[in-house]
Amino acid sequence: MQDLHLVTRRHFFRSAALAAGAPFAAAIASNPVLAAAANPDRTLRVADVLSMTPVDMARESRVVSAARTWLEGCAKRLNDAKLRQIVLDVMADPVPTVAVALDEAACLETLRTEGLIDKSRKTLLPPLPGDKRSAPQPYWSAPGSGYSSHHAYPGGLVTHCALNAASAEKLLENYEAVFGLKLDRDAAVGAELLHDLHKPWVLQWLEDGSIRAEAQLAKTGEHHVLSIAESMKRGVAPHICVAQACAHEHPGTPAGEAFVVGFIRAAARIAGLDPIKAGFLAEDGKTLALPRRMEGFVVHLADHDFVVAGPACQWSAAALSTLFADKYGVKERAAQNKLRNYVLANLTAMRLYGTLSSKGEKAFADEVARVLKA
Ligand SMILES: [Fe+2]
Ligand SMILES: [Fe+2]
Repeated sequence: MQDLHLVTRRHFFRSAALAAGAPFAAAIASNPVLAAAANPDRTLRVADVLSMTPVDMARESRVVSAARTWLEGCAKRLNDAKLRQIVLDVMADPVPTVAVALDEAACLETLRTEGLIDKSRKTLLPPLPGDKRSAPQPYWSAPGSGYSSHHAYPGGLVTHCALNAASAEKLLENYEAVFGLKLDRDAAVGAELLHDLHKPWVLQWLEDGSIRAEAQLAKTGEHHVLSIAESMKRGVAPHICVAQACAHEHPGTPAGEAFVVGFIRAAARIAGLDPIKAGFLAEDGKTLALPRRMEGFVVHLADHDFVVAGPACQWSAAALSTLFADKYGVKERAAQNKLRNYVLANLTAMRLYGTLSSKGEKAFADEVARVLKA
């Protein structure tokens, strides 16, 4: 009760300060990502943007840098030294170690037999350059999703994960404040930090500025299963792998749990592990290890950033397409994609759509003009 009292007081004073009219300065001062989006440091010409790669755009974005730094700080606050190192290693270099020694044809056949992959599939893994020992791009330049979904711009993965990890931390705080429920921060936040780790592999940038189409695996986007497999392969503790597997579905109903069990079975096959012996599933293989833990629900809830971020990205992209044609004279699809990627990497789709929806088209165009000139 004492804790609840203190938290409530703290939130009360923060709310009071916001209501008193000092909202933005206070919020920006405490949030480097927001500060970076609010204050882009330069305005580039269209021609300069068209010569940039997605990696250039992510590297030079203050928003992406700030989100990266925030995520690394979040990872450094994990308690378990082994988990902490795995998360930092993944962020530094998301090389798919699951691909290195995998007998892809044999694994594909097993997944087919178990009904975990479409029978018509000829390959299992997304393409990899050269010797399979390097990632196709850095962690911090990957988009947050496919091109028609959330945070679909260079660095969108780190902005998505920053929001998710912050949401998971707040949920943990709130569950404790309201119910006195203490959950395992390492499991919830660690799994959130790892949850989309193979998007740099799966969501590769294409020449026209769009993103490789993602295949399905175990009835979900392949990035999810491949990311779980990578965590398993790198030795993340079983209960944290299970929490990570809950990002796309939760085990609160038999139907939902069947999906999560499928993700885990497919991921374990790819990682070369027995999902029951390794402790991911119960003895009968039909449910998660029992009793089901609660951290996976936190991971699932905190991954719901996409609910608003998906439409915000698409509505921003549609408005940008019109603006690029009408104001900047750029109509060709690939050129528009590159301008879109650059603008969103610097201002974020969430912030831009917030401006469009609350202040209108002129304010939206003024925002874009802060980072892009003809
Ligand atoms: Fe995901
Ligand atoms: Fe996600």
